[in-house]
Amino acid sequence: MAATAPIPALLPTYAPYPFPLVRGEGDRVFDDAGQAWWDFYGGHCVCATGHSHPAVVKAVADQAATLLFYSAAAALPVRDEAAERITAFSGMDSVFFCNSGAEANENALKLALLLTGRKHLGAFDGGWHGRTLLALSVTDDPKITQPYADQLVPTLRIPFGDLVALAAADFSDVAGVIVEPIQSMAGIKTASREWFQALRAKCDASGTLLIFDEIQTGMGRLGTPFAAQFYGVRPDFMTSAKGLASGVPMSALLMTAEVAAKLKGGDLGSTFGGGPLACAALIATVEAITTEGMLANAAAAAASLRQELAGSVVTEVLGEGLLLGLRCAHAAALKKHLLANHILVGGSSDPTVLRLMPPLNLSDEALDALIAAIHAFVPEQP
Ligand SMILES: Cc1ncc(COP(=O)(O)O)c(C=O)c1O
Repeated sequence: MAATAPIPALLPTYAPYPFPLVRGEGDRVFDDAGQAWWDFYGGHCVCATGHSHPAVVKAVADQAATLLFYSAAAALPVRDEAAERITAFSGMDSVFFCNSGAEANENALKLALLLTGRKHLGAFDGGWHGRTLLALSVTDDPKITQPYADQLVPTLRIPFGDLVALAAADFSDVAGVIVEPIQSMAGIKTASREWFQALRAKCDASGTLLIFDEIQTGMGRLGTPFAAQFYGVRPDFMTSAKGLASGVPMSALLMTAEVAAKLKGGDLGSTFGGGPLACAALIATVEAITTEGMLANAAAAAASLRQELAGSVVTEVLGEGLLLGLRCAHAAALKKHLLANHILVGGSSDPTVLRLMPPLNLSDEALDALIAAIHAFVPEQP
């Protein structure tokens, strides 16, 4: 009988870095040999306030020692404060806390179907929204959606950022349209302010709910609290996760008062959503982002990289703030070269685009290390 490979206790999902990480501090992580790595990947765009920000660590430790958990069966002052902080920061009116990006999107899409009574969803070419069934319905990634093709909700999909295609689309049976304001996984694709405003107007005219998936673009990453402020558009629903609580698992389904007024008790629920530990981390995260200059730091990064990388192998710096794409014909080789220089970056589904989504308090030292390593890169000639 042929020998079969042993099944590891931890089911493999991603191909991890070739070293384990044991510690993080600010914009660096450290491996088990004590070596430092500049973190431009942020653990999937999560570590908004940097690794183990002291105020977040203290808030979590204090909360853990005070009341580690109670569900929504009890009112908690820390949860009320978290709701006040995130609604004020996002410009939305009301919030439901849950646990992951997919869960927040799933709830937004489910409520759009409920509130409109319509049968279709709307989404954009290249959009990525998560791995639960409604989130998969609107995700454009055939390798993860195809196996479930028969179970997915019919979705009208149109090109992202295209005014003509938007005008031609028929939203009359579309319950909700979901959009990543900057498409991250697709390779840091952006659309114009004018397009976002046309999308808002089209949804208004057709009674379709507009959902901004701000799981990557939110929490200060573009230099504004959320992309909604960056593009001057107020969606009906906004979802946030990743950096929301600096790495403590948490997500938020934010909504307008008009939408919230139509919901009744029991439409939404979650055991862990809005747990005190996550709420304490969220409050400390918003506080750090707003009081430590992180919005300005994020806003400055794109301009600085565009200037410093001119004439290098990076032919274009895509995106805004600290959600950036480096276009390079030799992206895979550049990623390897950066790793050899102790710099972690992400790939994307565009083989010519590497992604940067580092902590928002990224230091000049880290930026200088990245710029120097890129200028030192010599692609192998075929
Ligand atoms: C834009 C976007 N939406 C949704 C998700 C799903 O979030 P989660 O992995 O927390 O379920 C992701 C995850 O990468 C994402 O990038």
